[in-house]
Amino acid sequence: MHTNKLTLHSFRNYADAEIEFSPATNIIYGNNAQGKTNILEAVYLFSQGRSYRVKTDKEMILFGEQYARLSLIFEDERRSHAAEIRLLGDGRKKIKMNETPVTKLSMLMNYLNAVMFSPEDLMLIKGAPSGRRRFIDSAISQLYPKYLGALSRYHKALMQKNSLLRSLRASGKAADGALSVWNDSLAEHGAYIMKKRQSFLDEISSESSRIYSDIGKEKLEIYYTPSINCDIIESDGLQNALYEAFENHRGREIENGSSLMGIQRDDIRILIDGRDARIYASQGQQRSAVLALKIAQTEYICTHKGEYPILLLDDVMSELDASRRSYLEERIAGKQTIITCTDTSAVSDASDTKLFYVKKGTVTEV
Ligand SMILES: Nc1ncnc2c1ncn2[C@@H]1O[C@H](COP(=O)(O)OP(=O)(O)O)[C@@H](O)[C@H]1O
Ligand SMILES: [Mg+2]
Repeated sequence: MHTNKLTLHSFRNYADAEIEFSPATNIIYGNNAQGKTNILEAVYLFSQGRSYRVKTDKEMILFGEQYARLSLIFEDERRSHAAEIRLLGDGRKKIKMNETPVTKLSMLMNYLNAVMFSPEDLMLIKGAPSGRRRFIDSAISQLYPKYLGALSRYHKALMQKNSLLRSLRASGKAADGALSVWNDSLAEHGAYIMKKRQSFLDEISSESSRIYSDIGKEKLEIYYTPSINCDIIESDGLQNALYEAFENHRGREIENGSSLMGIQRDDIRILIDGRDARIYASQGQQRSAVLALKIAQTEYICTHKGEYPILLLDDVMSELDASRRSYLEERIAGKQTIITCTDTSAVSDASDTKLFYVKKGTVTEV
């Protein structure tokens, strides 16, 4: 899969810009705060429907403007696609894929597959569980739009359940039938989500362990740690088991005024040589583990989709030592990559590499 052309209007610090990419390597260079990452963010927006950097879409509209418009032309093995995103000042977002309006984010998923490597990914290892859940959720949603739908229905039911738990606690009343209705819905969507998380993690855990052993001496292990301890995630009985677990905790949940268990509390355990990487991993080990996870994610997409995603590398080459960098270069060879950096000294001068210089929101092909 690759993108041919990105057009930006009033997006971030770009009034107007047009970039025609090479299907192979693209290097975007320039000083800090000139707009390099903004370009990767724009491309990535088409794969997720929302930015990984902001809370509200409005932040991406050029200061002082009313709306932003982005369009992207990209190709998979079957055909070429034209996508358009408009971000409006009132917070609304209008998306079109091949001239057809996209009314739900899940309809956008699985068109453009992209994997972002960014310096903030180190938080995957040391940061809070929410970052690791975001990683698995966005990776699975890219291939299974239904997963995004299930997540959204789960979270709607969870909000309703939590508000009921708060009012039951405040009024001191016993639980009513409505609680079971929400538990039923949470069990249904939760079971589906847990199964998908388990199978995703099974796959990327073996792949990332293999990759890690190529770049580091130690052993990397990754395990799914659901908040509801179930030995039977693979079985048909999971939904019932979840429902039972929720019902058995009614009393404690009312006392607490909020839900105590469910997929919103899941985590991944990452071990390096048998030790919890969150506590013990060195900076170098964290970098290797993140690299292994991300490369494993690209392999996962290739296995399930039949083609590689577009790889977006935000300023990561400079952080890697020579051996990790050459390993990464070997792994990304032959795929479309868009790389940002401040210094081009380490950049290949292959004929299919395009170079772009960015300064204060203008892009020039060099
Ligand atoms: N909504 C916006 N409107 C105008 N400029 C913006 C907006 N959001 C960010 N910027 C500007 O974009 C620049 C940062 O761009 P970025 O792509 O992160 O830089 P870098 O080249 O370091 O990767 C900063 O100068 C910032 O002020
Ligand atoms: Mg940047």
